[in-house]
Amino acid sequence: MKVADEQTKFVATNMFSLAQAKAFPECECLAIYHDDELVGFTMYCMDHEDQEYWIYRLMIDAKYQSKGYGKAAMELVIEKIKEDRQHRVIYISFEPENIWAQQLYEQIGFIADGRVIDGEVVYKLEY
Ligand SMILES: CC(C)(COP(=O)(O)OP(=O)(O)OC[C@H]1O[C@@H](n2cnc3c(N)ncnc32)[C@H](O)[C@@H]1OP(=O)(O)O)[C@@H](O)C(=O)NCCC(=O)NCCS
Repeated sequence: MKVADEQTKFVATNMFSLAQAKAFPECECLAIYHDDELVGFTMYCMDHEDQEYWIYRLMIDAKYQSKGYGKAAMELVIEKIKEDRQHRVIYISFEPENIWAQQLYEQIGFIADGRVIDGEVVYKLEY
């Protein structure tokens, strides 16, 4: 699966994410399917610094974008993270020029957390 050429700066390759998850078992990788069709990938992790959940990756293959899969996948992964009742916040970060991702996260209820880490804007969802 691939994002569009102009989106490659917004997300690591899935190969990199899988390698990262192998090295860091606190990262959970999930394939995103529509019926039998593989449409995307996401990875969330328990961050070792703040001990909170972060959605580190979300990508929908370029040919499946703008069909609602990104939003549906985010809603499902959030429900999954919420199963751990010991936590009350989910973090996500994105490049400031990634307006598409920003709009998606805001629709779901994420708000700016005020931090910028490694050039990425940090958003949080408290529940
Ligand atoms: C960002 C991404 C995950 C969104 O997934 P998607 O399945 O394409 O998005 P959806 O169809 O669920 O749309 C969700 C919202 O995104 C926005 N959106 C959708 N298509 C868009 C487009 N062509 N241009 C700009 N915004 C768009 C809209 O706000 C939309 O909500 P709406 O349909 O209620 O108006 C996907 O585009 C992607 O993989 N991008 C490249 C990788 C990336 O940037 N990942 C995030 C890293 S932080």
